Amino acid sequence: MVKYYLPAVIRQVNNLEEEKRTVEKITEDIVNIGVNDREITLFEGQYEVKKGMAYNSYAILDEQVVVMDTVDPRATTEWLKNLEEALGTRKVDYLVIQHMEPDHGGSIMQLIERFPDMKLVGNAKTFQMFQQFFDVNPNDKAITVKEGDTLSVGKHTLQFFMAPMVHWPEVMVTYEQSAKVLFSADGFGKFGTRDADEDWACEARRYYINICGKYGMQVQALLKKAAALEINMICPLHGPVLSENLEYYINKYQIWSSYEPEDEGVLIACASIHGHTMIAAEKMKELLEQKGAKKVVIADLTRENIHAIVENAFRYSHLVLAAASYDASVFPPMEDFLNRLKAKNYQKRTVGIIENGSWAPTAARSMKAILEGAKALTFAEPIVTIKSALKEENIPQLEALADELLNV
Ligand SMILES: [Fe+2]
Ligand SMILES: [Fe+2]
Repeated sequence: MVKYYLPAVIRQVNNLEEEKRTVEKITEDIVNIGVNDREITLFEGQYEVKKGMAYNSYAILDEQVVVMDTVDPRATTEWLKNLEEALGTRKVDYLVIQHMEPDHGGSIMQLIERFPDMKLVGNAKTFQMFQQFFDVNPNDKAITVKEGDTLSVGKHTLQFFMAPMVHWPEVMVTYEQSAKVLFSADGFGKFGTRDADEDWACEARRYYINICGKYGMQVQALLKKAAALEINMICPLHGPVLSENLEYYINKYQIWSSYEPEDEGVLIACASIHGHTMIAAEKMKELLEQKGAKKVVIADLTRENIHAIVENAFRYSHLVLAAASYDASVFPPMEDFLNRLKAKNYQKRTVGIIENGSWAPTAARSMKAILEGAKALTFAEPIVTIKSALKEENIPQLEALADELLNV
């Protein structure tokens, strides 16, 4: 008897409406049987997703039938209907498990129940994690693959490449040799349903930086492997299938994973208690623009979405931190922001500092201390110190910092 448990919160939101199902033909024999989840508001318990989320899963219909990953337990019912529509009376021979995280591995047991003779294809770490999640030994169902191994299912041949820590240890990607399709797991995924009408790069960047950002080195290793393959199409586990202008997407991943700035510009991240620090931030923006900065963006750390601000910190070449002092340290929204940047391996940037304090300003020291150890980070001089409110005497300091930032 199969033993597995779903958290109650997931059971409650299962059963998306019928109209949310869509089966999308990718090639003659490959279909996307994934589900667009339009009800979800918070992906992975923290990321705001105003345009929902797609859990992609693919069926390869050849002499034998392969399913590439399952879906989030929120969408099991609709996904099984999609699969049924794609299969007709056929059975599934193989389930390839590229990633065990529940938004992809969460319906594995339901597929096993439906097709008890189906083989599971994964690597050694996949099956270790499989047992952690389901408390079931896959036994003779498991086919354990290693780097470069292949599986032929008729005219399609799947080749497996390990992608450890992109962004979990068991992750692997799969290259289908006949149609030259790369099944890229979470790589090249984005927030939003497949049909969300929005810029790919914006939501793919927010997804990448926040979810995979820490693992740039590992993503670079995977991109090297991909560079040796001829790829016609990329099939990620989230977002749309990419079939045109693939260099554009691969180039974005090159930039993001190497931590290089994507756009010339200054992000001013501000944590103001009563508004005086924000006035200084706004003055800084004005001065930078007067002096010819291409793009200056102010982010209010106390009000705006933190994941979008983290995304922008990686996007732009320069960062200005403007924060009030607090509890002999720095105002907590700034502390939180900097800890997030550090956790995502923030590096290769020039950073300016504006601190405010009504008695002993401590914000600058605390901010620098959090970022200590970050690679290739340059602090622009001077550090601007404001006492309670911006005054005329502070303007030359702000000007000097603006000059320094624009010259670096
Ligand atoms: Fe994941
Ligand atoms: Fe995912």
